[in-house]
Amino acid sequence: MGESQCRGIAAAAAALLMVVWVGVSDGQLAYDYYKTTCPDAEDIVRREVLSFALSDATAPAAFLRLMFHDCQVQGCDASILLDPVGVKSEMRSSRNFGIRKLEEIEHVKAALEAECPGQVSCADIVALAARESVALSGGPHIAIPLGRKDSRASNYQQADAHLPSPSISVDAFLQTFMAKGLNLEESVAILGAHTLGEGHCLNIVDRLYNPKADDQMNSVFEARLRLQCPTPAPLTNLTTVSNDITPTIFDNQYYRDILLGKGLFLIDSGISRDPRTSDLVKQFAIDWDYFFRAFSSAFVKLSSTNILSKARGEVRKQCGRVN
Ligand code: HEM
Ligand SMILES: *[C@@H]1O[C@H](CO)[C@@H](O)[C@H](O)[C@H]1NC(C)=O
Repeated sequence: MGESQCRGIAAAAAALLMVVWVGVSDGQLAYDYYKTTCPDAEDIVRREVLSFALSDATAPAAFLRLMFHDCQVQGCDASILLDPVGVKSEMRSSRNFGIRKLEEIEHVKAALEAECPGQVSCADIVALAARESVALSGGPHIAIPLGRKDSRASNYQQADAHLPSPSISVDAFLQTFMAKGLNLEESVAILGAHTLGEGHCLNIVDRLYNPKADDQMNSVFEARLRLQCPTPAPLTNLTTVSNDITPTIFDNQYYRDILLGKGLFLIDSGISRDPRTSDLVKQFAIDWDYFFRAFSSAFVKLSSTNILSKARGEVRKQCGRVN
């Protein structure tokens, strides 16, 4: 390895440590946050998430996306869970279409309240449920710092403004994640979350029936999507299509799929061809260990975004309403 390459790696490592450190100190997060107040918190979340996954193999995907949609709007503060049927709730935003398993988070919360009342925030539960979902699907075991506080408010307009559309440009995609302190490698890795789960026709038809000039899909794959989503305006919201060919396994199949033109959303395809991201896509496609490491550090950063201080947040008693 050349000297300059070594220096580059050392600098990158220093930058990474700094960002993580800043994120942790700003929000008063700590790896042993519940050591005295709720020592079994992580075990309880693990047990609950496992039981949901055993009864519905698609549950882990839902929990993973839930963390992203929570953290992307106001920060990781469980704002997405607040008053889910209310007129101003984040769930009113069309960008939250397909978000599921809110009731299950409330169920985990009830189990934690029974064990240690008033201690574990809903925001930490969302982050832990996502972390467990990755691990039990075969992905990396990621240690995350805890101590997030829950917001006292939410607003669907924030969700409309900050949740990305499936046809976001690679530029806007990179800006979104780099603004949270993820580097290029981590930004490409976090989208590997699309190794799990599914999408609805609503989010695919634009790509099928109103294609962008630079979009390219594998023709067999495209024909299959058209069969599953046969009309430009979906006649039903019941049809779902897998994100990759192994939708319940957290692996690097997503990167192999998108390289073959089998990415479900425009942005999935986009990162496989953009000159800034395509080399990383190719490396993640052949080196799952490299993908897992990059995904893990990306996950810690994303799930530590904009943490509320004790003064500005609370620990809700129920995830669906402020205290
Ligand atoms: C620019 C960034 C992103 C865009 C545009 C995007 C877009 C989408 C869309 C449109 C869906 C399908 C929703 C549906 O039709 O039901 C989806 C599903 C999903 N997304 Fe993303 N996503 C992005 C980033 C992420 C990130 C960062 C994560 C997690 C860390 C994530 C995790 C997931 C998962 C797990 C699913 C499957 C959900 C399920 O099966 O219920 N996505 N995404
Ligand atoms: C599907 O869901 C979207 C978003 O909630 C809605 O606008 C649309 O009318 C629904 N389509 C059908 C056929 O129910």
